[in-house]
Amino acid sequence: MITPRQRVEDAQLERNLRPRRLAEYIGQERVKASLGIFIQAAQARGEALDHVLLYGPPGLGKTTLAGIIAAEMGVSLRITSGPAVERAGDLVSILTNLKANDVLFIDEIHRLSRVVEEVLYAAMEDFAVDIVLGKGPAARTMRINLPRFALIGATTRLALLTGPLRDRFGSVLRLDFYDLEATQEIVLRSAAILGVPIAPEGARAVALRSRGTPRVANRLLTRVRDYAEVHGDGAITAEVAADALTMLEVDELGLDDVDRRILSAIVEKFGGGPVGVETLAAATSEEADTIMDVYEPYLIQLGFLQRTPRGRVATRRAYQHLGIPAPALLETAQRSFLAEP
Ligand code: ADE
Repeated sequence: MITPRQRVEDAQLERNLRPRRLAEYIGQERVKASLGIFIQAAQARGEALDHVLLYGPPGLGKTTLAGIIAAEMGVSLRITSGPAVERAGDLVSILTNLKANDVLFIDEIHRLSRVVEEVLYAAMEDFAVDIVLGKGPAARTMRINLPRFALIGATTRLALLTGPLRDRFGSVLRLDFYDLEATQEIVLRSAAILGVPIAPEGARAVALRSRGTPRVANRLLTRVRDYAEVHGDGAITAEVAADALTMLEVDELGLDDVDRRILSAIVEKFGGGPVGVETLAAATSEEADTIMDVYEPYLIQLGFLQRTPRGRVATRRAYQHLGIPAPALLETAQRSFLAEP
């Protein structure tokens, strides 16, 4: 369990550990290479960057990349999110306060309302917004020109974006889970910034259980540091890391109690599935959105869970991991659910 206080501390920590330049950013080589070219080209032309859409599971560095883009371009960054921009007027006010070539970052962009989204289309395409003055027969529209700006949109759910919005991005880049080497490097870098003594094997032990996600890696690193200070001399060895993570109930694949509750619910309450995500949410007391955004992507990546048109199913590997014998005909029974009905 993460307490609200820990959540605030984690957010502060994340900001302190965030790389500020592209050269400091570890992993996501494909995305880095693309962005490096876009940034150089825009700078050579003295123009704003083309609008970029970043998508992928949470905690992989979408906000960090927006900060890096602004820093590399030498412009200001304005950060907001889909749910925070409630009315069209809110967006107009943000847009009219931008300076030439500035970066506007909209997190959870799939959660913008339709009305706000329509204002955004025009702003992205024409660098202008039309506002209506007055009411009734006397109402007139007035066009306000905007400075050229770069929109960086971020989403955990590409499929929820409307076609017209998606089409207005010059590039769409996917962030993947980090591999073990990159995650280990991030743990070593963060430990160096925090001044925590850590052995390469200790960093590897933390990385192994970080589910390829820097936000998780940094959070586990601080918990392991606390444990090492109380139970040892403060140094993080492989053994100290493993002991601390076992105490934190993070298993050797990085699964925590919520992951295990989701898997065991599918297996024990719904016979391995398929089960709809709303039902699964009710059975585990988690939000359906949290299950879809935070937990499912990694369980799918591990091959423990599959999405079918009828709902989620647990695979044989999930049964094995939970130590529960799987029915002999599990795949045969599930195969009928895998195809579109
Ligand atoms: N901290 C969090 N994410 C990082 C990354 N991708 N590279 C370096 N440090 C990080």
